[in-house]
Amino acid sequence: MPKIIYVEQNGKRHEVELADGVSLMQGALNNGIPGIDGDCGGECACGTCHVYVDNSWLDKLDAVGDAEASMLSFADAAQPNSRLACQIKMSSELAGLIVGLPEGQH
Ligand code: FES
Repeated sequence: MPKIIYVEQNGKRHEVELADGVSLMQGALNNGIPGIDGDCGGECACGTCHVYVDNSWLDKLDAVGDAEASMLSFADAAQPNSRLACQIKMSSELAGLIVGLPEGQH
């Protein structure tokens, strides 16, 4: 299974394997990654799955949708590489993807 790397603000890395089609939000919950709550269950309605995508991976992701862009506009500490983890589905093309966790989400 493809691997993803979640990185906490303090630099602690969590490497986990996720099956194809599993969202990065669900993968974080399944593996006890701190800082991802996923309160809305992946409906793009809570913003508690905010992550920073490593810049080298940004162009490999699907474009930000309208609902995601709206939620991100309310997110604390949003950056140009901010995404919602529930909107990114794992695939073999994303093996090795690195995402950072915002400080305020812990
Ligand atoms: Fe609620 Fe992603 S889990 S917006």
